[in-house]
Amino acid sequence: MTVIGAARETAAGERRAALVPAAVAALVRDGFEVVVEAGLGGHCGYADADYAEAGARVAADADQIHRDAQVLVAVAPPGDAAIGRLGSGHTLVSFLDPLGDPARIRRIADTGATALAFEFVPRITRAQSMDALSSQATIAGYHAVLLAAERSPRLFPLLMTAAGTVKARSVLVLGAGVAGLQAIATARRLGAVVTAFDVRAAVREQVESLGARFLAVDVAGDEQAGGYATELDAEQHRREQEALAAACADADVVICTAQIPGAPAPELVTEAAVRAMRAGSVVVDLAASTGGNCACTVPGEEADVDGVLVLGPLHPASAMPATASDLYAANVRALVRLLAPEGVFAPDWEDEILQGSAVARGGAVASARVAERLGGEGAS
Ligand code: NAI
Repeated sequence: MTVIGAARETAAGERRAALVPAAVAALVRDGFEVVVEAGLGGHCGYADADYAEAGARVAADADQIHRDAQVLVAVAPPGDAAIGRLGSGHTLVSFLDPLGDPARIRRIADTGATALAFEFVPRITRAQSMDALSSQATIAGYHAVLLAAERSPRLFPLLMTAAGTVKARSVLVLGAGVAGLQAIATARRLGAVVTAFDVRAAVREQVESLGARFLAVDVAGDEQAGGYATELDAEQHRREQEALAAACADADVVICTAQIPGAPAPELVTEAAVRAMRAGSVVVDLAASTGGNCACTVPGEEADVDGVLVLGPLHPASAMPATASDLYAANVRALVRLLAPEGVFAPDWEDEILQGSAVARGGAVASARVAERLGGEGAS
């Protein structure tokens, strides 16, 4: 019987768990044995007894998980200690930041382990249940708005009270992908007036259907496979920054979510644009982990720029770890089932989803995109 193992996350700021009791119960029903490290769901309100009741064995430490399990599931990419425990009998399923840190993939491949990266799950209909980027972006978008609302000195909704009328606040959302659309919906629910922009013109309708205004900017971005944006050329980028500076000056809150897979986040909000915003305004930059959309973002920190608060949270989905883990664990279960149909480890490497997400296999880097980043020496 294939054993699935989940150790506690050790990365700083990571509060999610790769498995939750409901996913454990489902995996046990699927015919797997599951072993989890004691304390796995501590940040999510799940006790060891909940995992045991769902059918998992609770192990004392991560070493035991690595000894017992063939399929290791995790949220954050492994650090050196976890890589040191990997061997050819392991298959790792996790976020692995394959384009941001290709050297780590090389180190994982060197252990002989197989590794699948959620970042590379192809965006096809059959893989939607495995789309962890989307499930976690949904949480991030929601959290960003709550964070902005909490740190904002003013209420979001229009209120008519005996003491006077409170004006609705205006929120600008940059990037209307999964996180951006969720941010728009959340800001609208809080009563803000929302404007949004994305280089992919196709999202205008989605933005408007959520009750937000789509900002017209004279740039025409392209869309690549899977719905991702491509980088703008220098002239279009300059035009975009100019148009967004004016929009930022009118906004009380700016939520940045724009990303280009495998590239640094585009700088959309310049320092001059931040300085032109009203004191008390708040910028939440969800692109902080890839450099940020705002020139003033300090990843993982907060900055005060002439009274404008710029927040660069690095683990926004971890701020709401229970829902984030529930959804992530469902993504994990779906991918594990593909690796081991009927509970028996027998991956079909011709399958488009497995082939797309495999980054290490048989002692080699299994992804051409990662090998290219490594400059050729990666794909041994
Ligand atoms: P992402 O996290 O890579 O990027 C977020 C947003 O930033 C994107 O909408 C992108 O167009 C935008 N962006 C990039 N550069 C920009 C710039 N210079 N200015 C303004 N905006 C910029 O992408 P995400 O959210 O993971 O996915 C994007 C889209 O992919 C989704 O909205 C959806 O349409 C599609 N998708 C398709 C799936 C499928 O199964 N076919 C699954 C999930 C998403």
